[in-house]
Amino acid sequence: MKVLAFAATNHKQSINKKLVKYATSLFQKKHEIKLIDLNDYEVVLFSPARAAKSGVPKKAQEFSDLIEWADLVVISFAEYNGSYTPVFKNLLDWASTTKEKLFVNTEMLLLATSPGARGAKGVLTQAANYFPFMGATVIGTFSLPKFSEHLTAQGISDKALHTELENLVLTAESTPVPVHTKTVTWVNKLSTLWIVIGYSMFAFVTLNGWLGAPWFAITTANIYWEIAMIAATFTLLIRPLYDLLPESDILRSMLKWRKGIGVISSGIVVGFWLSRNTSFTDPTIFFDYFRAEKWNFGLENILERTTEITAWTLFLISNKWMVLHANWLWHQLQKLAYVYFLSAAFLLSIIHEKTYGLVCLILFFVIYQAWIYKRIFNPKPVENHQSRLSQAS
Ligand SMILES: Cc1cc2nc3c(=O)[nH]c(=O)nc-3n(C[C@H](O)[C@H](O)[C@H](O)COP(=O)(O)O)c2cc1C
Repeated sequence: MKVLAFAATNHKQSINKKLVKYATSLFQKKHEIKLIDLNDYEVVLFSPARAAKSGVPKKAQEFSDLIEWADLVVISFAEYNGSYTPVFKNLLDWASTTKEKLFVNTEMLLLATSPGARGAKGVLTQAANYFPFMGATVIGTFSLPKFSEHLTAQGISDKALHTELENLVLTAESTPVPVHTKTVTWVNKLSTLWIVIGYSMFAFVTLNGWLGAPWFAITTANIYWEIAMIAATFTLLIRPLYDLLPESDILRSMLKWRKGIGVISSGIVVGFWLSRNTSFTDPTIFFDYFRAEKWNFGLENILERTTEITAWTLFLISNKWMVLHANWLWHQLQKLAYVYFLSAAFLLSIIHEKTYGLVCLILFFVIYQAWIYKRIFNPKPVENHQSRLSQAS
């Protein structure tokens, strides 16, 4: 785990620095810990005019990058008049302009100490209330009152306080979320990219058919069918895979890829259909599609028409407008993905004798077999993301 730790003060003999250092010594496993001193991050006083004129100071940007780097941020707050110290507030204000949510996907341990009996609880409460708005997951808070009495060379003298801090550090240490959530952010970002790629593939394949060779020609059409088949396999298998491995945050966030990758698959098939069955120069070509020989009950025809019709349907409903306006129907139509997958896979493997079609089919049956097996022998309802979140909170 990557840990960033600091005292939110520029006091050279800071008691909070001693506390934060002590807290990090309580980790039981080895971590990459960066203990920084805010004296090294002092920046000019924030003002909107300065921000507009000169941008973010280098040190504030470095501070923001360090937060981005960390999985866990441990801060011990010094309290000045019931609030943050100016050095910290100023740095925070600058750093907060670098990102929409500075602490997104970051877990935090918030500590505070003071010479007095309140243990800087005022600033600690403020921080605990505010940091979640900056995207942080606050694992817990700890206030150490009467610093010089309680923290000695031997550690925290009061047993109850020591246990409280130790438990907090161990909780942070045993929570695996942040490492994954950083990946999850990355995985989430890709879900939009897949949609863009999906529609681009559709446009490319269609235009290729319409505009034709030589400069725009797809010379290896097979690769597009392979991509379409693999994408369809992914969209169908990611859900049962996640049900089989519900602890995997990566698989959970990859569920969001289904829409975009589904568009890649159906977009290619629809693109080929359009480019083959429509033409600007010869519009009558469209009517050939409805000729009887295309619709008899030969296996190839059945598989081809089923693949095309389901691909069209899935392609047309894969947009936000349809999700919003055809909610019930949308969920029902989504189930066509199974028909689409099976018809395309049988078409490619049986009729066109493509190995990858067979491989996708085998994968499909093996994973669904395992999924059904798990359902029978472990019939607990599969946890969904929402219930996990509510449990966590
Ligand atoms: C301007 C100023 C305001 C302070 N206000 C508070 C306060 O509101 N509550 C408190 O408990 N201590 C207050 N203190 C005392 C600090 O808790 C004390 O200086 C402590 O050492 C700060 O922590 P540090 O050594 O980690 O910087 C204040 C100190 C200064 C200089």
